[in-house]
Amino acid sequence: MCGIVGYVGFRPARDILLHGLERLEYRGYDSAGYALQYNNSLVIRKCVGRVTDLAAMDPGEGARATAGIAHTRWATHGEPSTENAHPHTDSSGRIALVHNGIIENYKSLKDRLKARGEVFVSETDTEVLTKLIGLELEAGGNLLSAVKRALSGVRGAYGIAVVSADEPSTLVAARYGSPLVVGIGEGENIVASDVAAIVAHTRDVVYLEEGELVEITTRAVHSHGSDPRMIRERMTHVDWNLSEIEKDGFAHYMLKEIHSQPESLRNAFRGRLDMSEGTAHLGGLNMTPERMKQIRRIIITACGTSWHAALIGKYILESMARIPVDVEYASEFRYRDPVIGEDTVALVVSQSGETADTLAALRLARRKGASCYGIVNVVGSTIARETDAGVYIHAGPEIGVASTKAFTSQVMILSLIGLALGRARGTVSRSEGIALANAIQEVPDKVETILGRAGEIKDLAREFTYASNFLYLGRGVNYPVALEGALKLKEISYIHAEGYPAAEMKHGPIALIDDLMPVAVIAVRDAAYDKIVSNIQEVKARKGRILAVATEGDSDIRHHAQWVIEVPEVADQLTPLLTVVPLQLLAYYVAVARGCDIDKPRNLAKSVTVE
Ligand code: M6R
Repeated sequence: MCGIVGYVGFRPARDILLHGLERLEYRGYDSAGYALQYNNSLVIRKCVGRVTDLAAMDPGEGARATAGIAHTRWATHGEPSTENAHPHTDSSGRIALVHNGIIENYKSLKDRLKARGEVFVSETDTEVLTKLIGLELEAGGNLLSAVKRALSGVRGAYGIAVVSADEPSTLVAARYGSPLVVGIGEGENIVASDVAAIVAHTRDVVYLEEGELVEITTRAVHSHGSDPRMIRERMTHVDWNLSEIEKDGFAHYMLKEIHSQPESLRNAFRGRLDMSEGTAHLGGLNMTPERMKQIRRIIITACGTSWHAALIGKYILESMARIPVDVEYASEFRYRDPVIGEDTVALVVSQSGETADTLAALRLARRKGASCYGIVNVVGSTIARETDAGVYIHAGPEIGVASTKAFTSQVMILSLIGLALGRARGTVSRSEGIALANAIQEVPDKVETILGRAGEIKDLAREFTYASNFLYLGRGVNYPVALEGALKLKEISYIHAEGYPAAEMKHGPIALIDDLMPVAVIAVRDAAYDKIVSNIQEVKARKGRILAVATEGDSDIRHHAQWVIEVPEVADQLTPLLTVVPLQLLAYYVAVARGCDIDKPRNLAKSVTVE
């Protein structure tokens, strides 16, 4: 999604802004631009393409500026073009604005402004807001009050940063539905849509509240929004360091993140397992054993890969805690009139904690009386702050657009919740709990073993470079893994792929199978093994080419499958934590072989903050 950086201080602003934009590149974008405040004027540069293209543009006197704003744009209103790129200016050219989000009533506002003689150079909703601010400024007051008045007339979502040529060393920023965070430095401050753009300069940050408007100068940040407390009192410390957002010698962030799963999984359960009682303690959930016993129903809502983790959560929670679980696409849930009671618990799963549909689903569930708990990666994100309580997955920054380590950590947390609920409700015995806790502890080493086979998977990937379709099949708790394997391949290699519950295949998709169709089957030795072997036979009978993800030492499966990738044995409900890893690697190596842009796949954004 679009990215915002703004800087005011004593150092060359352009360098800091460009560096910040580079840090936000992973979010996905198609054009970039900046506005620098220098000598009572604004220097604006914009281009279609990469941040490196913007950096190549001559900034002229702007090189000496110590304040400015910058943006990476992911087209929503209007195609990628220099005119549509941000910053946008008002008709005087003396104020410039960058914007994330969507102004929903832009059309009617634009018509009104046109009728007053305003001329528009872009097709964007953002330019409308900029012109509104310009007109308010003409009517009187300073930039801050003009922004405030203009925002009172817009509907939609925004995170904005604004500069005026007439108010040196001052930025105005505001958020509603689109995140903004301010990094607090000494004699300098930096605002961004993501802490990744800030951590190189300071790790002391303040997350802006919904509806908050701030004025940022070199020495202070003043809040004029919903929470006017002294901004420094709200300061939190980001515990990420710079090396966590570097590639560390890996060719791509995605590959680094796949390989960091043993560590991210350990971080997910560290300090949370009780080996003697065979349970998990999740302080963030803030739920007594009595409360755990009272839960009658769970709804899990999420999007994309997080939805797949949620679906695995359904299998885990139903089998361990014996509570009915519904899994809902947040984008559907938010527009239904779902039946929710006070005995309903809503679990909201999101890596970024900023996904617009998931946030809206959370708000709806709260309004209807559910207790809402977050399973979130990004600390301090909107979903984390708006839930009643929750569990951070502690996966560390995930930069690759294709989610990998966040997925396995989400599944790990759902397993811990299942264990805690199961023990509290008496549906998991102490000895079963201890066995499961031990099995959980062994997962990271087992993932390490699979990662040791990356070379094998890389060689295998060559077989599929020219495939145009792919089918993924799984049963039970590994059915969502089939969905996730297919999504990974689609996202980064652009090969059409479908995930299906294996037995459902004969109700339609079997028609697609021929000798050109690779079929990946998750066929580990679990309760569904015999059934899945029958499904493999059905594919084989139609000359489909089978790649099986199977349990180590299963020699039988080699009679059925053309290719086999082995994963270590593990308790049935934990198998997704292992079976997904070869599928992540397969998608990665197929996409590399096809020459795709792994970390910035076409049309995709890391964090989808618009609906
Ligand atoms: O940040 P979230 O977990 O809420 O994001 C949800 C989806 O947008 C995300 O998982 C998306 O599907 C990824 N690109 C999957 O790799």
